[in-house]
Amino acid sequence: MSAIKSIAVLTSGGDSQGMNAAVRAVVRSGLFHGLEVFGVQRGYQGLLNNDIRPMDLRSVGDIIQRGGTILQTARCKEFMTPEGQQKAADVLRERGIDGLVVIGGDGSYHGANKLSKLGIKTMGLPGTIDNDIPFTDFTIGFDTAVSIVVDAINKLRDTMTSHERSSIVEVMGRHCGDIALYAGLASGAETILVPEVPIDLDAISGRMYENFQSGKRHSIVVVAEGAGNVNEIAEGIAKRNGIDARVTVLGHIQRGGCPTHNDRILASRLGDFAVRKLMEGETAKGCGIVNGELTVTDLDKIISSKKPFNMEMYNLASRLSQ
Ligand code: ADP
Ligand code: F6P
Ligand code: MG
Repeated sequence: MSAIKSIAVLTSGGDSQGMNAAVRAVVRSGLFHGLEVFGVQRGYQGLLNNDIRPMDLRSVGDIIQRGGTILQTARCKEFMTPEGQQKAADVLRERGIDGLVVIGGDGSYHGANKLSKLGIKTMGLPGTIDNDIPFTDFTIGFDTAVSIVVDAINKLRDTMTSHERSSIVEVMGRHCGDIALYAGLASGAETILVPEVPIDLDAISGRMYENFQSGKRHSIVVVAEGAGNVNEIAEGIAKRNGIDARVTVLGHIQRGGCPTHNDRILASRLGDFAVRKLMEGETAKGCGIVNGELTVTDLDKIISSKKPFNMEMYNLASRLSQ
């Protein structure tokens, strides 16, 4: 016996690769279990606009491999107000929708939590390239974004080596350095700058100078956007050590393209799990995978916690990039 008869799914905040795979999993799992399933267009804005359509098996065909989100996404100011949240809950009730799966980042989780307090059964799925949601090892889109950064750094390394330059690469992550950390370790970057660790330009430029003196022909510095101004960092390093530095801002390239198999599998497992948890009567929870195991955690707990930064991995990257 299911605690609910119908569910809706929406994508919200910054998009990420694998959101489509998650939408597909929610829709097909819901239909498999005999639920009525709806798709909400443009995140919370779609709730306020009553832009909600029934989803069938074919409505999510041919999307598992596509970046972006077929449901579109939005950042919705009106939904931030208590009146907006009440209106959204009323629309869902009027449409006879009992449960809502929200695929998005921390902001979207806040929204889902507010709706749950207004009587809507909600379940969050971590959809963001930032990997900044606690109580899941990885968020949907992170693996693909890191692969894109690694591929870009491989290319930058070629030309930097030819010209004996340093490459200062800005990657996304306003409050979380995980993209920089994972991509930096995987690409052999000499320096990784993240919001979680203070920057010492003297030490960075000195180390780069010594490495060039001992025969190194390039240097890669990965800068998470939240760590500081990339142009100022590049100038600060070049002024200190005299090595020609070039800045590359990867930007939204990191948010597009075909999701990796890891993101598709994560999205598929989490999407199906969210539906099953709603059917069991759970609400106000976020789903994750920790050490391979599916988990649910209270949204209250998730949004009041910060994902711990992996200093061990950060120190390893530093040790290996002499
Ligand atoms: P993300 O989910 O990727 O972190 P945002 O922070 O932009 O992206 O949040 C997405 C949307 O979630 C916002 O546009 C807003 O509609 C809703 N939201 C964000 N924070 C809150 C909040 N504190 N209360 C209610 N809704 C929120
Ligand atoms: O939260 C995802 C993210 O891509 C961040 O890494 C980045 O800081 C931000 O969104 C960019 O937002 P926008 O798409 O509004 O430029
Ligand atoms: Mg966010």
